[in-house]
Formats: sequence, C-alpha cells, structure tokens
Amino acid sequence: MGRNFFVGGNFKLNPTTRAAKQALVKTLNEATVDPSVEVVIAPPALYVIPLRASLRADFKVAAQNCYEKSSGAFTGEISPEQLVDAEISHVILGHSERRTLFHETSEQVAAKTRAAISAGLSVILCVGETDKEREAGQTKQVVESQLQPVIQVLNEADWSKVVIAYEPVWAIGTGKVATSAQAQEAHADIRAFLSSQVSPSVAENTRIIYGGSVNAGNCKELAAQKDVDGFLVGGASLKPEFIDIINAKK
Ligand code: G3P
Repeated sequence: MGRNFFVGGNFKLNPTTRAAKQALVKTLNEATVDPSVEVVIAPPALYVIPLRASLRADFKVAAQNCYEKSSGAFTGEISPEQLVDAEISHVILGHSERRTLFHETSEQVAAKTRAAISAGLSVILCVGETDKEREAGQTKQVVESQLQPVIQVLNEADWSKVVIAYEPVWAIGTGKVATSAQAQEAHADIRAFLSSQVSPSVAENTRIIYGGSVNAGNCKELAAQKDVDGFLVGGASLKPEFIDIINAKK
C-alpha cells in the first residue's frame, strides 16, 4: 500500500487580523481537495483551539511547537498533554527557525518528539541543512545528525506517528526552491538512513515531505518525485494557491 500524500500549512507568526483569519478558514473550508491527501494546518499557538472548532473535520490542526515536560514551572510553554486535551492531533518539531532563532538542539527536539508521541500526538519532524553545509557537501551528514537523537528515543512502532519534513534552510522563505533532483536525493538518503537505522518497513512507510518555497508553480514536479510524499508549506499556505498544492498529485 502506498504512502498517503501529506500537506501541512505552517502559518508561522501569521495572520495578524481577524479578517485575514476568517478569509483563510473560509478558503480552506470551501476547498475541493483530493480526499486521499492528509491536510494539517498549523496556526500560531493562540489560534489552535478556535481553528479546531471552525475548520472542516477532514483537516487536522497542528501546533508549531511544544515543550518536553507535561506540566510545571515552565513559563510560556505548552505541553503535549495540553494539546491533546485541546483535541489537537499534530505538532511541528525541530523547525529550522526553532533551531536557529531559539537555539533548540537535536537532543531537545528528540526529547520533545518522545514526549509528544507518548502523549498521543503525531509529529512533523523537521530537518535540513544550511547553504554553507550544502556547499561543503555535508547535507547527508547534517540531516542524519539531526535524525540520530530521535532514532535513539523512539521504538519502531512510534514511527507510524512521525512525518519527516526535509526543509533545506536555504530554501525557506527565500523563493529559492530545491530542484526536484535535490529534493529526491535528500529524501532518498533519509529513507535509506531510516532503513539502516530503524527498519526497511519504517523506511517504506514513513512519509518524507519537502518544505522550502513550495508554490502552485513548482509543486507538481516536486510531487512527481518517488520519495517526495508531500509538503510543509509556509508563505503559500496563507494564499488561495495552497489548495493547488494540496491537489498537486491530481
Ligand atoms: O515549515 C515550512 C516553512 O519553513 C517553509 O516556508 O515560506 O519557504 O514555504 P516557505
């Protein structure tokens, strides 16, 4: 059986007005989409509960981050258990903006992934190299170093709750999308690494999605790649073209 196509919309710190929020939800709720595609929408934390209440039932809601503790003196944080209590099903972890701007290490991302899955969440696990690392030929090594701590803390069954998002940092928000060959190569390397470090079955069944300047114009060619199982979309998820990206496999 094939891997269901998966498309996430990462709104990041957007939108900022009530009118924009209402327009976004209307576009999503009225969209005609391929029912086989798993769609997950990640608004800013403040909006996950009202979005869950207003979004169509076949689309899921993700938080853009969570903490690795379930409760306690951790001002400003949100726990995996609190997200589950709010009927939120997914969480994005290890996004490059969390790694670069908020200094999250791969070890912390692994601890968060462990805690999120233990609480009952599904995880969109982000990995990806910088332009300097790619230019130095270190892409595979960097991505594997980001995955290794997660592999250490998960058992084989946990991987059914993980979608890996390969997001080259140099493609995020830049308009400089990876070529289909670059994306396919990185995804195939990740799948081979999962096969050797976890199991061939996990490698075959884990969705590996691409993120970084995806839009309606480039999504079809990327989606046609053997090891590209979907997308994690930033800027374009805030626009009507996001529906075309969801339907990229059609
Ligand atoms: O998480 C997805 C995001 O990092 C990609 O952003 O704006 O390049 O689609 P964007």
